[in-house]
Amino acid sequence: SVTRRFRFNLEWKKVNRLCTTKRLLTVNGQFPGPTITVNEGDDVEIKVTNRVANNTTIHWHGIKQKRTGWADGPAYVTQCPIGRGQSYTYKFTVAEQRGTLLWHAHYSWQRASVYGAFIINPRLPYPFIAPNRPIHAEIPIIFGELWDKEVDDFEATMLATGAGAAISVAYTINGLPGPLYPCSAKDTYTATVEYGKTYMIRVINAALGDELFFSIAKHTLTVVEVDAVYTKPFTTTAIMIAPGQTTTLLLTADQLPSDPTATFVMAATPYVTSIFPFDNSTTMGYLKYNTTGTISKDRTRDLSVKLPENLPKMEDTKFATTFTNRIKSLASSQYPCNVPKTIDRRVITTISLNLQDCPQNKTCTGYDGKMFMASMNNQSFLRPSTSILETHYRTGLGTGSSGFPERPLNKFDYTGGNASTMNTNMEFGSRVIVVPYGTKIEIVLQGTNLLAPENHPIHIHGHNFYVVGTGFGNFDESRDPKGYNLVDPPERNTVGVPMGGWAAIRIEADNPGVWFVHCHFEPHTSWGLATGFVVQDGPLPSQRLLPPPKDLPAC
Ligand code: C2O
Repeated sequence: SVTRRFRFNLEWKKVNRLCTTKRLLTVNGQFPGPTITVNEGDDVEIKVTNRVANNTTIHWHGIKQKRTGWADGPAYVTQCPIGRGQSYTYKFTVAEQRGTLLWHAHYSWQRASVYGAFIINPRLPYPFIAPNRPIHAEIPIIFGELWDKEVDDFEATMLATGAGAAISVAYTINGLPGPLYPCSAKDTYTATVEYGKTYMIRVINAALGDELFFSIAKHTLTVVEVDAVYTKPFTTTAIMIAPGQTTTLLLTADQLPSDPTATFVMAATPYVTSIFPFDNSTTMGYLKYNTTGTISKDRTRDLSVKLPENLPKMEDTKFATTFTNRIKSLASSQYPCNVPKTIDRRVITTISLNLQDCPQNKTCTGYDGKMFMASMNNQSFLRPSTSILETHYRTGLGTGSSGFPERPLNKFDYTGGNASTMNTNMEFGSRVIVVPYGTKIEIVLQGTNLLAPENHPIHIHGHNFYVVGTGFGNFDESRDPKGYNLVDPPERNTVGVPMGGWAAIRIEADNPGVWFVHCHFEPHTSWGLATGFVVQDGPLPSQRLLPPPKDLPAC
């Protein structure tokens, strides 16, 4: 096999956006960061050197890291951070995976500007290409956000004061906000296409705080892959994509504009915004046909641009649900769907935003004089001061010994009702779910309405999972499993748990190590909406976690 080597230097870079110049943390001075492109089966080595005073780590989101958990990246879960002046080389093999993923910093809120695409070219030809419609070129669409303050201070401030989540001031496509934002008409992403050709659009949501709807005016999109797993192809006018998710689309440029200077608008806007004052703005780009003419007029802001007619409106849960339910595994003989048909264990956990009483001698600026926190089964996750993977490797975390509760502590109406009557007591700690190698586990993620319902994108490191069922309201263990899809459920690494509902996922625990489980909304992770999934070594040498690399940073 081939070894591909990359160098990532973490450094500050002055970036001019939204009428101002701000320094952003970047990789190699690039914003968004460099794209990593490898082939399925490659060995990958990425040497990360930290040239700033802040600690850092980098995570290869969706890469399974078979037996190489040391290269996974989440700070204090699989490694201690890389300190100023230090280097750490992430080494792993990209096996049995292909498609669009992302990489991002996994320390505090550094993902805000430290992110990029991770593309795995397949060993075999794409299963979805019609011979008469070859892919002419690829178009990257990476969503991100911009803030008006130092993102590095957000987490500490939030945790010190109990304040609500910081809100971005703009969404971006490939780092560019687009014409609806001040001084940004020049900072608009434009993809150029030729009439009649077919393009592969790799959509990545690297934003910190919102699920996004995305569409391109007048064009239909064909979904062929999500989270680097092929799906049954289907066409749609728009998509929904949660932070951490990726969606590969085919687009045929079949809308020749009569006016050669005309362009088609693409836009992304958040799904849920009204409950807390989330950024409810819209980022835009252009799809420009390669005819004569130009769109570059000297405008600082262009409010005459209309949203695509096919872009769902904010809060359109009907679109979000219909779209999500159409995603199915390809489930072909070449790419079978290996969903566990039976399970050894079912864990049901709430995913919840909570209010915590303010400690004495402190003023909390969260809602009602309290602190915002978050939890799973009333466990609010605190990252330990050394990595859990190291503890596990050196001393072993026994099954059950770490005691993550496998059922909600109190039975209540999770998604409706009166928040004041509901159980809000949290325990702060680092309890994790521990399973023997090979366990077939089902985890039911039950959304709650303790503060407000939200669609939480839950991400699990080190494994893909199958989304066998979703629903609204409270999960009913005697009824809902009967309706599961065990034929072609979508295989993913991040699932949006329906707002006011639940999602059931199945995993075969075939990757020994410690894997972070968390909400991919960064503020929710800061508040403790996280746990760990620990898979013990199996009996065979090929089922054991490899020893830690020599350059693994120390805490
Ligand atoms: Cu994409 Cu734990 O993260």
